[in-house]
Amino acid sequence: MSRKITIKAFKYNPLSKISKPHFNTYELEETSGMTLFVALNQIRENFDPDLSFDFVCRAGICGSCAMLVNGKPQLACRTLTKDYEDGVIELMPLPVFKLIKDLSVNTGEWMAAMNSRVESWIHTTKVTDISKQEEKVDPELAQKTFELDRCIECGICVAACGTAIMRNDFIGAVGLNRIARFRVDPLDERTDEDFYELVGDDSGIFGCMSLLGCEDQCPKHLPLQNQIAFIRRKMASVK
Ligand code: SF4
Ligand code: FES
Repeated sequence: MSRKITIKAFKYNPLSKISKPHFNTYELEETSGMTLFVALNQIRENFDPDLSFDFVCRAGICGSCAMLVNGKPQLACRTLTKDYEDGVIELMPLPVFKLIKDLSVNTGEWMAAMNSRVESWIHTTKVTDISKQEEKVDPELAQKTFELDRCIECGICVAACGTAIMRNDFIGAVGLNRIARFRVDPLDERTDEDFYELVGDDSGIFGCMSLLGCEDQCPKHLPLQNQIAFIRRKMASVK
């Protein structure tokens, strides 16, 4: 049986001199299998064409639709309205990231800075000869690398992290997962000493307070805490 749901969406345009942060409330008829993606599009089509939010893939792949849903960071395209028993859903933009407008934040700028900080690319002295066959990689190591490469840079682990909310230079679980990914990749020649130079301080591996918010909320179920604990042990034994 269908029911009415209430969506309260945060609205604010930081670029407008007259805009003030507030919530707008919308009442919708819930449909079968309704996600927040569907609900927000209905709101934009029928009530508020000015409401800003981000979606690309609608399938939990691109990572662009993360927002706070009743206080928890989640992918809106993978969130079903039926899971909210009282039918009241409050939406806010992710904290930590720069607010663009309403529910839209600039995760791209933050992720670009993080990737640059952890030098998120293969470091090798070998010169690639494209006329030759690619170097073979042990399938087990390749699988371990791919496992950690499943991150979609949605920013949820950052928004769920006490340290990231308190200090804006913390690279978050997403950044530490990048270190774990390149550390396991046999094509990357960096040593633990090299990784220590990048993340061996309180804005890196030693800033994590092990609150587990990152792993609890990661939509890709990445083993973030195991990886962080492992990297912390390795970094603590450097020097
Ligand atoms: S580690 Fe998980 S929560 Fe964090 S950015 Fe990647 S996919 Fe999102
Ligand atoms: S729209 Fe791509 S993950 Fe939600």
